[in-house]
Amino acid sequence: MQVKLNVIVGAVVAMCGVAASAQDAVVKIGHVAPMSGGQAHYGKDNENGARMAVEDLNAKGVVIGGKKVKLELVAEDDAADPKQGAAVATKLCDAKVNGVVGHLNSGTTIPASKIYNDCGLPMITGAATNPKLTQQGFKNVYRIIANDNALGAGLALHATNNLGVKKVAIVDDRTAYGQGVAEVFKKTAQAKGVQIVDEQYTNDKATDFTAILTAIKAKQPDAIFYGGMDTQGGPLLRQMEQLGLTNVKLFGGDGICTAELVKNSGGAKTIENVVCAEGGASLAKMPSGNAWKARYDAKYPGQFQVYSPYTYDAVGVLVDAMVKAGSTDPKVYGPQLFKSDYQGVTTKIGFESDGELKNPAMTLYVYKDGKKVPLN
Ligand code: ALA
Repeated sequence: MQVKLNVIVGAVVAMCGVAASAQDAVVKIGHVAPMSGGQAHYGKDNENGARMAVEDLNAKGVVIGGKKVKLELVAEDDAADPKQGAAVATKLCDAKVNGVVGHLNSGTTIPASKIYNDCGLPMITGAATNPKLTQQGFKNVYRIIANDNALGAGLALHATNNLGVKKVAIVDDRTAYGQGVAEVFKKTAQAKGVQIVDEQYTNDKATDFTAILTAIKAKQPDAIFYGGMDTQGGPLLRQMEQLGLTNVKLFGGDGICTAELVKNSGGAKTIENVVCAEGGASLAKMPSGNAWKARYDAKYPGQFQVYSPYTYDAVGVLVDAMVKAGSTDPKVYGPQLFKSDYQGVTTKIGFESDGELKNPAMTLYVYKDGKKVPLN
């Protein structure tokens, strides 16, 4: 019966091909990311991706349980702040949105995921990478990129196997993400015989790293690992150059792996020493990455950072599960998410029983002539 219904729903979707009208039932998709503060550029990119998906789906026409629906994005700002993230999660539960895409930072996503779990709302993040997110035993939490175990370890193996790095200093911003990714890097690097010559801490609002870098310089590392975002990563690079750390590599996870890192480093030549990792294939290797990116750039010129293809797909997977279940009720379509077999822009999306993406890819990047270039 379910199979038959799906076939009928699919056929109706295919026949429809018209834009949603005002009287269609509204399906609300919550989206949360930092839209203010130092990380607003990531948040804007994430929201653009989700909005583009909503517009594409509405233009194509979506039929759920035999009824034409209109998707609406309920976009919220958590300012990358765990407390604001929790407040916004409660707001989305109260607003009875049908599903959530977000959040962006692990530090906001982990506490928010408990709130969504308590109110029975499925959430898919296309950006938060701390492994703890899916280790809480919640049945409503999904991630469609690789986690920091892949990023931290991949970077450490590249540093040791391919670049001969022997002495590393580690800096993290004490957020769930920064601390987590730095720990994985450290563990893997140490297992490969790397000496950790210094460990320093900062925060996700800092701008001056002179004291930290001066201490690190005295330990003569071959490389620094930075666990944090480009808002700090950029100035850190500029100050590395100013302090003469010009032959020291800078490793970092997806948080620094952005177009904005170039701007934030203020033209520092040390950008050429960066090696960063992202939890997916490069755009060129995604099933329809380049074509999608061209459409994105036409809609949102100069705003692409990292995760918008993933937030685009997150909306797609949520809506696909609703269509297949014939319901927008989280209790009904939620379990369908585990059966996802969805061809996204980024990859074919299916989930493990803990909500992690099946077979995630990982890509290392360097910067050449001010542009991020994939190594694999
Ligand atoms: N991957 C980053 C995080 O988890 C954005 O916070």
